[in-house]
Amino acid sequence: MWMGIDVGTGGTRALVVDAQGRVAAGFTAAHEEILMERPLWAEQRPENWWDAARVAIRGALAEAGISGAEVRGIGLSGQMHGLVILDQASAVIRPALIWCDQRSQPQVDAINQTVGRENVLKYTANPVLTGFTLPKLLWVRDNEPRAFERVRHLLLPKDYLRFQLTGEYASEVSDASGTSLFDVVARRWSFEMMDALGLDRAILPTCHESSDVTGRITRAAAEATGLAEGTPVVGGGGDQASSAVGNGIVEPGIVSCTLGTSGVVFAHMEKVAYDPAGRVHTFCHAVRDKWHVMGVTQGAGLSLQWFRNQLAPGADYDALTAEAATAPAGAQGLFWLPYLMGERTPHLDATARGGWVGLTARHQRADLIRAVIEGVSYSQRDCLDIIEELGVAVESVRASGGGARSPFWRQLLADILDKKVVTLETQEGSAYGAALLALAGTGEYGSVPEVCRATIREVDSLSPRPAEAAFYARGHQVYRAIYPALKPVFGEIAGLDSR
Ligand code: XUL
Repeated sequence: MWMGIDVGTGGTRALVVDAQGRVAAGFTAAHEEILMERPLWAEQRPENWWDAARVAIRGALAEAGISGAEVRGIGLSGQMHGLVILDQASAVIRPALIWCDQRSQPQVDAINQTVGRENVLKYTANPVLTGFTLPKLLWVRDNEPRAFERVRHLLLPKDYLRFQLTGEYASEVSDASGTSLFDVVARRWSFEMMDALGLDRAILPTCHESSDVTGRITRAAAEATGLAEGTPVVGGGGDQASSAVGNGIVEPGIVSCTLGTSGVVFAHMEKVAYDPAGRVHTFCHAVRDKWHVMGVTQGAGLSLQWFRNQLAPGADYDALTAEAATAPAGAQGLFWLPYLMGERTPHLDATARGGWVGLTARHQRADLIRAVIEGVSYSQRDCLDIIEELGVAVESVRASGGGARSPFWRQLLADILDKKVVTLETQEGSAYGAALLALAGTGEYGSVPEVCRATIREVDSLSPRPAEAAFYARGHQVYRAIYPALKPVFGEIAGLDSR
């Protein structure tokens, strides 16, 4: 048996799979609520991830009815870009600023000023964005100098878990790509970036390819989790690269759409290609010597979660999507902007704000929900369009994540993306991909594409319905016109909300 562990935003999930990639058990332990002290700030306590991981690992072992000794390898996956900082004694210095935290625009501007935009692109293959790790580190330097002075180790969320499990300070290429501190083309840390900003190179973890073994379960971790001492832990991947492995996006032609808290359209690349405007990210893939490109909607599942928490407390997601299905396509002219945490693709704008546009007294709650689901899907279409502009051929889209569990949302996605939407036998996404990386990394299979070919099967597909696709193509044009019209006021709003 092999185990994949994903440190998500909502919870940590441990999954047990056999040598054929069949899922034997899965257990999720929820995280505490995201700490949002101010608008667009988002923090979580790394210690809470470790607490959740221990529960999830024990839960998955129990559900599979196996002992830790039967687990032959472990892969880690996790929410990307988060800043975990440890002191000399390896204690967490402050809560992690997580992927959707948008407070660091002044630091992004300062990096562009000091290093130069062109050099940032040359060194890291991407523009620096507020969500990435480096500007978060500089925010701590600028605003909490006493905390910054104590920093001895910088880790990404899943790599904090790796540290707890193996005692190693290590990362891997796919997650490191989202730090703005990584040379994505050369697949190594960018000392050029560290040096240009006067940062200490020694705080960086060692960096591996994603299927390499990075360490082994320590005795203390074995006691804490029920795993066996000495079990190998492979690099794993950022949650998006891992999810892509779990969806078999490891060769050209197929694209995935993962509707989790964020929504991501992801394509494999044999060679590095960039969007000159930086609207999609070009990162290392979890496949040796391959890359990927992805577009990110910040508030995908988050939009629906926000709706539920604020406007339909206690409702479950199936009930909400069933209610949405009672509203007509287009939600009677209502549009949702999913910019609850600013937006990455295509706007790269931390000040963008969410909201409904087009409300009338006739609208009902079902329209509000339908508009949310349509708005998130339009935003995913924005991502797909840019990826196709880069010359990636897209025949079908493999959908996964919480949103894709709904057949209603999958059909809507097929109509709005105007592509065939395919579902896979195993829809476990990131944790599954991490387990497959462990299967490859411990020698059970020769490579990541080989393990994917052996384990991943398509089971269902939905084609776009021509009339709906034509209707939504018009809707997408309207959706696309709303952001530029509102952009001038978003900056004003951001100026007012911090009072
Ligand atoms: C990817 C990204 C999110 C997080 C959380 O760039 O920020 O997908 O990894 O899932």
